[in-house]
Order: sequence, then structure tokens, then C-alpha cells
Amino acid sequence: MHTPIEYDPRFEILEEDEGDTQAELLDTLHSISDTTFKDTGKPLRSVHAKSHGLLRAEITIPDGLPPVLAQGLFAQPGSYPVVMRLSTTPGDVLADSVSTPRGMSLKVLGVDGARLPGTEGDTTQDFVMVNGPAFMNSGPKQFLGGLKMLAATTDKAPALKKALSAALRSIEKGLEKAGTESAQVKSMGGHPATHPLGETYYSQTPILFGPYIVKVALVPVSVGLTQLHNAPVDLDNPDVLRQVVRDHFAQQGGEWELRVQFNTNIEEMPIEDASIEWPEAVSPYVTVARIVAPPQAGWTESLSNAIDEGMSFSIWHGLAAHRPLGAINRVRKAAYEMSSKARAQRRGAPIVEPASLDGLPF
Ligand code: HEM
Repeated sequence: MHTPIEYDPRFEILEEDEGDTQAELLDTLHSISDTTFKDTGKPLRSVHAKSHGLLRAEITIPDGLPPVLAQGLFAQPGSYPVVMRLSTTPGDVLADSVSTPRGMSLKVLGVDGARLPGTEGDTTQDFVMVNGPAFMNSGPKQFLGGLKMLAATTDKAPALKKALSAALRSIEKGLEKAGTESAQVKSMGGHPATHPLGETYYSQTPILFGPYIVKVALVPVSVGLTQLHNAPVDLDNPDVLRQVVRDHFAQQGGEWELRVQFNTNIEEMPIEDASIEWPEAVSPYVTVARIVAPPQAGWTESLSNAIDEGMSFSIWHGLAAHRPLGAINRVRKAAYEMSSKARAQRRGAPIVEPASLDGLPF
């Protein structure tokens, strides 16, 4: 393996007009959840509104990790409870036949250590991931352009979105047959109709890892999960993704590895362009922990009230040793804070960081 490079503040460079872009992003995101709140009365997230799996799990950091891997959360061996939330990207709750990238959020509970600003009283470490190795946009400005178009369609033309998704899925199929793929086509509704538990999830953007810089991935490893890779789901059921997660966890549990990919060359693996996939041939993902979820309900209304409504997942909830890096991550801090604050106001109850799984309903 090439040697991991250490973080240097010179690697982070503000995008032109980053502050203005952030303000516009916040307005646009707020307008999406305003629309869905008016239409449904529900305090939904501005994006990733629909959840498909809500799980209890446990993460274990093994004994004897080599010093380079023993950073932050992974510095000491031990086990912690985890909440997992599977989602898809839109801010409106659509039938699953509008097929978009899948999200996976982890909240590790009971973590000790110096905290990121604003989370000093908490003990959580969150990881927020999507099932592709790189973000669809290089920086916040480019992301804002797409988000504005999406915002204009919130809660509108569901039949058109389904038809468009079917057309885009066949375009994506053609691309994949030809040995390529498109994050853009997938994000617009062309994501293949596949099982969310067979996917590998990626942070797409880098975080600190002690003195180093990494991207993070969650990789399914139990046979029950790996055999779901690219397994088809029946999009005639509008909530099929939730159904297949429930069906899986009614029968069996699941195991994943949490892996990190070190930045070994800042030119080849930039921090400030989130659309560039860091080459795994140069720096492979290496395992730092195992996550085990036992058989369980997988998704219930009461879990949705507690987790979808009562919790917020953000890369800025965590240890200073895992500070998020780069423009996309910088603007995400205020965006996630705004979205969860608006949700708390609309539901008339605070969103608090949990200290344990006690009190989480079934
Ligand atoms: C400028 C870029 C981005 C912005 C402005 C943004 C904004 C947001 C917002 C406002 C939420 C809702 C938060 C809440 O109400 O609790 C959210 C959720 C989410 N985002 Fe992002 N995001 C960005 C980039 C990303 C990237 C790069 C990823 C993954 C690799 C990602 C994955 C997710 C996921 C999985 C959720 C759902 C979190 C949950 O389960 O509660 N986002 N995002």
C-alpha cells in the first residue's frame, strides 16, 4: 500500500462564492420541505425523505488494529450500539418505481473523545453514505444547479416521474451493458431496480482520520447480504424497498464491514472535487470495524416516528478526529442543521442526539 499522506490545511480551498452558494442551497432545501409539509403535514427531510429500513445494530472495533488504522472512533477496541437508516434521495415521498440512489446512515452511540464544534454535549458518531463511490457533482455550486431543478418538481407530476424513471432505467441499463454507468442518470431516476441490502455504501466525500484523510465505505459481507447484490425488486409495489428489507430481517440478520480508503496522493485524490473517484487500485479500502444487525422488524411506523422524525444524521455529529473535509462537506453542516431544525419546529418536538438504544420502540 502507498503511504497515507497527512492532512494539511492548504488542501482545503474555498469554492468561489461558497458562502452565497451555501445560503442559496439552504433556501432551496427549505423550499422543498415547505412544499412537502404543506402537502402532507409531515415534517420530512429536505432530501432522503423516504426511509426503507430502520435497524438496530452493533459495531465492533477489533483488538490489535495497526496504529495507522487506530484513529478516532477506531483508536480503542470495543463495541457500540448503532442505528442504521436506509433511504432514497428525493425530498418528496414517491413510489419506489421512481428509482433513485440509495442512502445509508449510521449513528454510533456512546462514543468518547474531543468533539466537533456544536456537538460538545453529545456522544454520537454519524456516517452518511450513498451507494456510489463518488458524488455526482464536483462542488456545491454545481449541486445547487441540479437541486433547484429538483425543487421545482417537488410533489408534482408523479406519473411523469415514474415514466421518466422507467426511460432513464433503460438508458442506464444500456450504459451498464456497455461497461459504464452514470451517477447523473441514476440520480434523476435511472437507478436500477435493485435490492438496497446488496449495495456497498460510500461517504463519497473525505473526512479526517486522526492526522490522515479518508473516504469511508460500508460493505455487505454476510452471505445473506452479498447474494442480494443486484437482486431485482418488483417496482409494481410502491413500497417494495421497505418490504424487501422487512422480509430479509424477518428471516435473518446482516453483517457489514466498515472500511476506509486513505488519501495517498492529493493530486490523484483531491479533497475539493467530490466527483472524482479515488482509485482503489492505488489505495484500496481497508477494514476497520464490523457491524452486525440481528433479525428484527426492519421498518415499523413506531420506528419511523422515533428515527425518521426524532433523529437527525449528519457527518458533523462526531469526533474532531473525523472532521468532514472539502466544500461539499463544509456547506453540508448548515444544510443538515437547517433541515433538522425545520423538522423539529414542524413536529413541535426537539430532535435530540440519543445516548443509548433504550427507549427506541420496536
Ligand atoms: C452539498 C451537498 C449536500 C447537501 C446540501 C446535502 C443536504 C442534505 C440535507 C439537508 C439532508 C437532510 C438532513 C435532515 O433533515 O436530517 C440530507 C440527508 C442525507 N444526505 Fe445529504 N447533502 C449533500 C451531500 C450528500 C452526500 C455527498 C451524501 C453521501 C455520500 C449525502 C447523503 C445523504 C443521506 C444518506 C441523507 C439521509 C440522512 C438520514 O438518514 O437522515 N448527502 N442531505
